[in-house]
Amino acid sequence: MAGRKSERWATRMGVMLAVAGSAIGLGAFLRFPTQAAQHGGGAFLIPYFVALLLLGLPLMWMEWALGRMGGVWGHHTLPGIFDAVTRARWGKYLGVLGLFIPFIIVVYYLYVESWTLGYAFLAATGEFANQNTATVNGLHTQYLGVRDGSALSWSLAGVIFLLLTLAINFWVICRGAAAGIEKFSRIAMPLLFLLAIILMVRVLTLPRAVATPFEGLDFLWTPDISALTNPTVWLAAVGQVFFTLSIGLGAIITYASYLRKDDDVALSGLTSASLNTMAGVIMGATIAIPAAVVFFGAAATMRYAEGGSFSLGFFALPLVFNEMASGALVGALWFLLLFFAGLTASVSLLRPILAFFQDELGWTRGKAASVLGALVAAYLVPLVLLTGKGVLDDMDFWAVQIFLPVGALIEIIIFAWLLGMKHGWEAITAGARLRVPVVVKYVLQYVAPLLLLALLGSWLFVPDDPKTGALSAAAKMMMLDGVAEANKPYLIFCRVLMGVTLLALLLLLRRAWRRKLDQPAMAPHIAAAEAAVDAPGHIMEEITPALFDAGRPDRA
Ligand code: PFF
Repeated sequence: MAGRKSERWATRMGVMLAVAGSAIGLGAFLRFPTQAAQHGGGAFLIPYFVALLLLGLPLMWMEWALGRMGGVWGHHTLPGIFDAVTRARWGKYLGVLGLFIPFIIVVYYLYVESWTLGYAFLAATGEFANQNTATVNGLHTQYLGVRDGSALSWSLAGVIFLLLTLAINFWVICRGAAAGIEKFSRIAMPLLFLLAIILMVRVLTLPRAVATPFEGLDFLWTPDISALTNPTVWLAAVGQVFFTLSIGLGAIITYASYLRKDDDVALSGLTSASLNTMAGVIMGATIAIPAAVVFFGAAATMRYAEGGSFSLGFFALPLVFNEMASGALVGALWFLLLFFAGLTASVSLLRPILAFFQDELGWTRGKAASVLGALVAAYLVPLVLLTGKGVLDDMDFWAVQIFLPVGALIEIIIFAWLLGMKHGWEAITAGARLRVPVVVKYVLQYVAPLLLLALLGSWLFVPDDPKTGALSAAAKMMMLDGVAEANKPYLIFCRVLMGVTLLALLLLLRRAWRRKLDQPAMAPHIAAAEAAVDAPGHIMEEITPALFDAGRPDRA
């Protein structure tokens, strides 16, 4: 499976595994616990489940449907699909988010993924046996090479494992993933789940240190109703749901675009979403949070979580393995499996960009992978060096809490309003092996876009304290309120870099469409498809024959 039009998934199981592999990763096991701890533990779960039901699941179905429809048109990435649906010059430019967001996320995701590989090594060499609550923090900063008094952070081990991670990722996507990694994840995934259950049992039977495991569970499962009025908690929950399900940025869309027209999307979407939720809420949360509370106490757990979007597991788990028989072995296996979970996710982030290079720019897979690899490596240099300055968390904040909800909102508007929910619903239910409740139709058309708009609006614009008219939480974060003065220039540098990247991608889109128009061989096909599309009701069924042959008409 890769970015070629003729390719299709060999088995239904293959695409299911790929999507589940994309979803289940560091988001469930590392990011979820940190987010939950940061946003008040139990307070986080209510918005999380609301977001899952009203946004996550419906959007998952929508992306499967949109992807499959795009594939029928011969497009595997958002710019092409949006161009086809909107039939307007600007359509493809909105699709830029389907390249930009995966790129930003994959850069920092790969770095965190490489930590899991590094930690597997540390565990295996018995490093965890020497750790206690006072030293694990140091272990992590040492691994990252963060030093007081030095502006730049890096360590030899960190760089080696990062290069290894990069090499493995690009090896996987160059070989074409269908054969290798998805087959492998048939073993790795169940093994990860099994190990997670073992760890859950161990954590829940830990002896009291600062607190008992049940105080840890209490911390997670006692809902704080007052948090429901805080837009920050809501947007964090929405972002986490999108991140963990891999939606809002076109990764699922690319995978689904290799389905056949009548393949099921309903059951597949539900299965991958449920598996992932189980991984995050039951396993991810029950392991890292109670463990952290046991060893550090609730207040310190929150403080540690503040220190990094993915950090809690790296602090708490070495201590758990320390308390286990054969801790070195179990610890190594755990982090190695986590690495594979991360690998199937990062590969899915690279895939849309690769498919875009191949399909819309006409590059060979080798060229596409080399250019992408070089770009990712180049962006990783400042990311690694400035990790100690909070650059990774800042990128994660922008990508997950701002870009993902915006991306999702644009997708919904295009799907439910421009394409129209009548056709959208047909697209979701065609070939379905599950009855999708009709209410989802209305949720997608009205509830989800309004909810997203309201959340983004209140978070961005509603003052923190209406009496004083203080800035909204988002505005404060954007203006680097509360960030140490010394770190600000580095964060601003990275934000500018993100802006430049977005601009460069927009220019690339323009070039891609110009190039296609310049190809005289395409002209008759374009005219034929254009005519078909202009016929009343431009939807899949009517235009499929023409588009199958010609691809959707392309404009500059
Ligand atoms: N869902 C992955 C995780 O939770 O680790 C991360 C991710 C993968 C996000 C692919 C987005 C994506 F397109």
